[in-house]
Amino acid sequence: MRKLSLILLLALASLVGLTLWVRQTYWGDHRRRMSGQTDLAKVGCLNCHLVSTASLRWSQPRPHHDTPAGLAVSPDGAMLYIALDDRDEIAVADTASRQVLRRWKITGRPWGLALDNLGKRLFVTCREGDRLAVLDTGDGHELASVPTGRGPVAVAFCRTLNGERLVVANSLSDDISVLADSPWRELGRPAAGREPFAVAGSPDGSRAFVANRMVELASVKTSPASELTEIDTLSGRAVRREALASAHLSESVCAVPSRSWMLTPVVKIRNQVPITQAANGWVMSGGLAITDVNTGEMLQMPLDEANDYFADPAGLVVDPAGGRAFIASGGSDVITVVDLERMAAWLAKASPAERREAIYDLALAPEYVVARLPTGRNPRQLALSPEGSTLFVAERLEDDILLLDANQLTVRGRIRLGDGGSDDPIRRGERVFTSSAYTFQHQFSCRSCHPDGHMDGLSYDFDGDGIGDNLLDNRSLLGVAGTEPFKWNGKNPSLDVQCGPRFAKVLMRTEPFPPGPLQDLTTFIKSLPPARSARRGDGKLTTAQARGKAIFFATRTASGKEIPHERRCSTCHRPPLYSVRLPFDVGTQGTSDTTKAFDTPHLLGVGGTAPYLHDGRAQSLEEIWTLYNPDDRHGVTSDMNKIQLNDLVEFLKTL
Ligand code: HEC
Ligand code: HEC
Ligand code: HEC
Repeated sequence: MRKLSLILLLALASLVGLTLWVRQTYWGDHRRRMSGQTDLAKVGCLNCHLVSTASLRWSQPRPHHDTPAGLAVSPDGAMLYIALDDRDEIAVADTASRQVLRRWKITGRPWGLALDNLGKRLFVTCREGDRLAVLDTGDGHELASVPTGRGPVAVAFCRTLNGERLVVANSLSDDISVLADSPWRELGRPAAGREPFAVAGSPDGSRAFVANRMVELASVKTSPASELTEIDTLSGRAVRREALASAHLSESVCAVPSRSWMLTPVVKIRNQVPITQAANGWVMSGGLAITDVNTGEMLQMPLDEANDYFADPAGLVVDPAGGRAFIASGGSDVITVVDLERMAAWLAKASPAERREAIYDLALAPEYVVARLPTGRNPRQLALSPEGSTLFVAERLEDDILLLDANQLTVRGRIRLGDGGSDDPIRRGERVFTSSAYTFQHQFSCRSCHPDGHMDGLSYDFDGDGIGDNLLDNRSLLGVAGTEPFKWNGKNPSLDVQCGPRFAKVLMRTEPFPPGPLQDLTTFIKSLPPARSARRGDGKLTTAQARGKAIFFATRTASGKEIPHERRCSTCHRPPLYSVRLPFDVGTQGTSDTTKAFDTPHLLGVGGTAPYLHDGRAQSLEEIWTLYNPDDRHGVTSDMNKIQLNDLVEFLKTL
């Protein structure tokens, strides 16, 4: 009996010893070999195994809401058409009774709306369907569906001497589809700036103007500028590209008939100033860009005031007489009313230098801002009744349309589309995300830098130890769930830390988020799916993409040499997140970086997040390797030819 227990005890001890040994040596060695890390403290089996996106919040079902996007008013002012992108529906409301009469189903995430002159046809851009649908306003049936570029978000109807035209802003393919009628077909596809987002026709229909939301990549490092693209509607060609200097995030554009002006709301860029100076001055502010379409002169006027900011300018409309402009401020829940006569009067008496510097003078707005009207949560798109008496405001996170008397500036009532969704934590979190209520002087919201949860393509100085010396490239929050730790340096272990204490300390300069809103905020961020990639609808890869995939997973170079484990793309960027969530030194340390190693970024949706690397030094995916991988430490790429590198990039764009 005693012998038996001794044997058992010995057997148990050796089993424990063996397990420990295996853990220490075999598994330790396995982890070391597979990860290329010397310090194994942070390297767990789960960095590389059993990772699945199916358990992440964004791949689970979520509630849908009656969220209003684009608006269009019938020529007689009786009907309001409302795109409900989250429902794949168009709502038709009676403006007098303020009741929704009908809802039409339409697939592909309807977003932008326009009507023809008689109000017989409704034109709808389907943001995810990559198409423009033509609906009969009599019964809502689809008369035509025309393919466009990728991510169409806005459309304008124009009449030319040579027939009708539709000008469509394609936000993902960075171009403009000009469609001609009978039957509708694409006449031209001129290139736009980066992320074309809004479009308006000139009063005579001969021109259309497209506002682009992001700054041009080539301008990022020197003098960031977005663009107003002018289209000749007859030929379907771009005829002028006007830079909007140090400004971006234009979500609207509108003609002032009486003055040959095009108006665009803009956000002034001050990304290279340390963000910690928010307490001393401003981080960002909103303005109005005025482009004189005859002379090409462009001016920018402030909409904010020194201690009172109106974040995230979105929709903009001008009354038919050209007397007033209305601008929705999505972050502040305010409509700003600008008297254009008074603005023109100020401009007429200002010196050229005063006009040039106007945007920096935050004492100027009272000269022409005549009212700030409160709205429900997150006012975005606007529409005016044809004679200009009623202003319709899409209160996006309220599921309402607010009706304002545009002359008296009083509330007429609301069209209720849904219940507001207050019992959905994702909806509540989006309200926190889009609200400027939590920042110093209400200057900005999370959305100001992460529009639609994405990124703005800029690099920011979060250090405060000098100007422009430690820039960090902004990151998309689309598909970010499960990719912790966060930040380029990987120092934040969870979204609660990243969005809570860190944000409060660095950015807000006010009280941190209360626990409830913080939890809703992180729930919202986790629900954001990765950005749409360039993968075909059927999920199959093109031949170039398939060749690129083979390169990404290759264990040997093109010339047949074995690639060391730690230099294979898939070692560090392992599917399904394309990151093992560990820090590596890939030879990208810059002169002002205090660290050599950076957290391996996930690559979901990476095709749309240029510029690249932690400081945004690479303008394109190619540049990561052609310019910034001299020693083959970031994958073995020096022996790749142009076609191979191109194939690799084509594959990356499908992730
Ligand atoms: C840094 C990444 C990484 C880490 C950490 C890691 N592995 Fe692996 N493991 C791999 C790779 C790569 C393979 C090769 C097969 C593959 O691609 O799945 C592999 C293979 C395996 C296999 C299959 C047997 C084999 O040799 O092909 C087992 C079992 C395994 N790992 C268990 C573990 C365990 C247990 C841990 C934690 C102690 C762990 N791994 C940690 C990357 C990793
Ligand atoms: C002034 C611009 C700006 C604002 C405002 C802003 N961010 Fe960011 N955000 C950035 C930049 C730049 C980075 C990259 C910084 C880094 O990695 O150190 C970043 C990174 C992040 C990350 C990490 C992503 C990753 O993959 O590691 C999260 C999460 C995030 N922001 C959430 C938020 C939330 C939530 C808010 C609002 C509470 C917010 N951001 C407001 C600019 C901004
Ligand atoms: C040793 C680990 C490692 C290997 C091997 C590796 N990467 Fe990376 N990758 C990283 C790290 C770390 C960064 C961030 C570097 C920085 O920002 O300075 C990065 C950045 C990137 C980025 C930029 C992401 C962004 O958002 O800016 C892309 C794209 C990328 N890698 C693709 C690849 C491809 C393709 C390969 C193979 C040719 C590869 N990587 C090999 C670790 C690795």
